[in-house]
Amino acid sequence: MYNAKAYSAASATSPLASTTIARRDPTERDVQIEILFCGICHSDLHQVRNEWSGVMPTVYPIVPGHEIVGRVTRVGSAVNRYKPGDLAAVGCLVDSDRTCPQCEAGLEQFCPNQTLTFNSPDKHLGGVTYGGYSESIVVDERFVLRVPSNLDPAGAAPLLCAGITTYSPMRHWGVTKGKRVGVVGLGGLGHMGVKLAHAFGAHVAAFTTSPGKKEDALHLGADEAVVSRNNDEMQKHAGSLDFILDTVSAEHDINAYINLLRRDGNITLVGAPEKPLGVSSFALIMGRRSLSGSNIGGIAETQKMLDFCGAHNIIADVEVIPIQKVNEAYERLTKSDVKYRFSIDMASLRSE
Ligand SMILES: NC(=O)c1ccc[n+]([C@@H]2O[C@H](COP(=O)([O-])OP(=O)(O)OC[C@H]3O[C@@H](n4cnc5c(N)ncnc54)[C@H](OP(=O)(O)O)[C@@H]3O)[C@@H](O)[C@H]2O)c1
Ligand SMILES: [Zn+2]
Ligand SMILES: [Zn+2]
Repeated sequence: MYNAKAYSAASATSPLASTTIARRDPTERDVQIEILFCGICHSDLHQVRNEWSGVMPTVYPIVPGHEIVGRVTRVGSAVNRYKPGDLAAVGCLVDSDRTCPQCEAGLEQFCPNQTLTFNSPDKHLGGVTYGGYSESIVVDERFVLRVPSNLDPAGAAPLLCAGITTYSPMRHWGVTKGKRVGVVGLGGLGHMGVKLAHAFGAHVAAFTTSPGKKEDALHLGADEAVVSRNNDEMQKHAGSLDFILDTVSAEHDINAYINLLRRDGNITLVGAPEKPLGVSSFALIMGRRSLSGSNIGGIAETQKMLDFCGAHNIIADVEVIPIQKVNEAYERLTKSDVKYRFSIDMASLRSE
C-alpha cells in the first residue's frame, strides 16, 4: 500500500477537501496511473450530496471522479497491454465478475457484481473504492483504456463517462445518417451527445433551457437548437424525431419530449434525477413510442468510442480548473453554468 493525495467529502453537506488515501501496490495484472486530468460529472455531485440514497447510498468519506486520463507509471508482472509512459484512461468501472452473462456479452455496465470506480466495495483494501480526484489510481489492466495520441488529455477525460454514456445508446438505437435525433440538456453529456450524433451523420436538434447555449449548440454540431421553455418552438417539432436522448439531471416534464417522437420512436433516459419522473401513458400509447434507459457502456465499447473520437478528432469542450476550485465548480454545475465540462488539472493537487 502507498499513500496518495486526494479530495474527499466527509458528509452530504461538507465541501470537498484535501486528504490522503491508501492505494494498493500494483498486483500482477494491475496498472498504476498518475492522473493528469479528471472530468467532473454530475453523477459525482449527485453522489457527494447523497442524492441517490435510495439506490446507491453514499459511503463517506467519498472520493469521486470517473473521467480519468493519466500516464502509466508502474505495471504488474503479468501486464502486457500497457507499459510505463503510456497515456491511459479509466472510466466508471474498475472491475466486474467477468463470468456472468452480461460480462460475457461485453456489457460489464450491467454486471450485478461490478466494481464502480468510486463508492463500490473495494475487493483489495476493504472499505469502498476511491475515484479520480486523486493523484494516482491502480486498476486491473482489463479495465484500463487506450487514449488516441491525437486527443488533448484534458478534453479526452470526459469521454470516459459523458462520451460513452451518449455513444452507447445512440449506437444501440441506430442513430445514423438520415435519422432525426433530439438531445435534451446541453451539459457534459448533452454536448457530447450533440457532437457524436452529428459525427454519426444524423440530423440533430438540441433542446436547452438556457437561451445562452442556443448559438453554441449549432457550433457543437446541432442542425437546430430549441429553447424548451418556448412552447411554440417545441410544437414545431411534434411527432418528428426518431430518437431522443434525455440527459437532464433534474426534475422536468418528459412528456413534452415524448410528444416530439414520431411513430415507434424511442426516448432514452441517461439523466438520473433524484426524484421519479411522471410519464403520461397517453404520450407513449399514441404512436407506439417507447421509453428506455441506458447505463454508460461496456469496456470494449468504451474503447471503440475512444477510437472513434480519435478518428474524428472529437473531445469535450472543457473548462480546466485547479482542484482547489472544485467546490465552486459544483455550485456552478447545479446552475448549469459550465461550457461544457469541468476538467480538473491534477498538477494542482500534486503541488499542494
Ligand atoms: N446513465 C448513465 O450512465 C449516466 C452517466 C453519467 C451521468 N448520468 C447522469 O446524467 C445527468 C446529466 O449529467 P451531466 O454530467 O451531463 O450533467 P450537467 O453537465 O449538469 O448537464 C445537465 C443539463 O441538464 C439541463 N438541466 C439541468 N437542470 C434542469 C432542469 N431543472 N430542467 C431542465 N433541464 C435541466 C441543463 O441543460 P440546459 O442548460 O441545456 O437546459 C444541464 O446543463 C446526471 O443526472 C448524471 O448523474 C448518467
Ligand atoms: Zn459520469
Ligand atoms: Zn458480470
